[in-house]
Amino acid sequence: MSAEGRKARLWDLPTRAMHWLLVISIGVCWWTGTNNDLEYHQYSGYAALWIVLMRVYWGFAGSSTAQFKNFVRGPATVITYLRTLHWRNTPQAPGHNPLGALSVLLLLGLVLTVVIQGLLAVDVDGLYSGPLSLYVTFKQGRHFARLHYQWFEYLLWAIGLHLAAVAFYYLHKRHNLVKPMITGRAHVEEDMKAAPLWRFALGAVIASAIVWAISKGFYIF
Ligand code: HEM
Ligand code: HEM
Repeated sequence: MSAEGRKARLWDLPTRAMHWLLVISIGVCWWTGTNNDLEYHQYSGYAALWIVLMRVYWGFAGSSTAQFKNFVRGPATVITYLRTLHWRNTPQAPGHNPLGALSVLLLLGLVLTVVIQGLLAVDVDGLYSGPLSLYVTFKQGRHFARLHYQWFEYLLWAIGLHLAAVAFYYLHKRHNLVKPMITGRAHVEEDMKAAPLWRFALGAVIASAIVWAISKGFYIF
């Protein structure tokens, strides 16, 4: 707990908004994908892609607790952390802990993999194939469609693990990680260093241009 018991700023608005919008977009991708509503599936897929691109950008240009260099750690640190994972009275980390950092990379990497496979996938009746499928043969595109589904299942497992970890921190360590992901505040030593919002706006313009070009299969002129 911070000295005065005051809650400090832990996550900035863009990081929180991106997290919950990613949750919604993956939910819509899941629903529309399994119900074969491929028109809306593509839109939700582009939304997921946009968010992942923005989160990666924010990992370099964002507020201190969102920056990769402040939470991604080597295997030795992760192993040391794992050895003390069962300890109860540890203070809440002032950002992602070494294990949380791994799950950030795993989840973002898996979403990006599933999206790329979707972009290259050929739909069985060819009506709503991914926009980059024109660069592969029909057979390859069908293969990407199968991979897309297979890796989506891996993503589901990773999400399950993510939720189990959040539950473990709540039940065993008495750390409520969800509340700070909503309010942005927690009992940590010091406030994060916030990045200016214009930087987010700049990234948003660039990410939107990239997603738009991809959605056109790069036929933009
Ligand atoms: C722009 C991004 C995406 C595109 C272009 C895309 C494209 C496609 C296409 C063309 C199919 C139909 C495949 C077939 O007919 O066999 C499909 C199915 C599916 N997609 Fe995506 N997808 C994208 C993103 C995502 C994401 C992010 C998820 C989940 C996280 C996802 C989950 C699924 C699922 C569950 C199916 C159903 C597979 C099945 O039941 O066989 N997709 N997608
Ligand atoms: C589609 C499902 C989900 C995906 C893909 C996902 C992905 C992520 C990612 C990428 C982060 C890192 C946040 C960042 O630094 O930007 C994160 C953190 C977090 N997520 Fe999720 N998430 C999902 C669902 C959920 C749900 C349903 C909950 C709530 C029950 C949740 C609770 C959290 C919390 C509390 C953190 C912060 C962990 C920490 O304090 O280190 N997530 N999630």
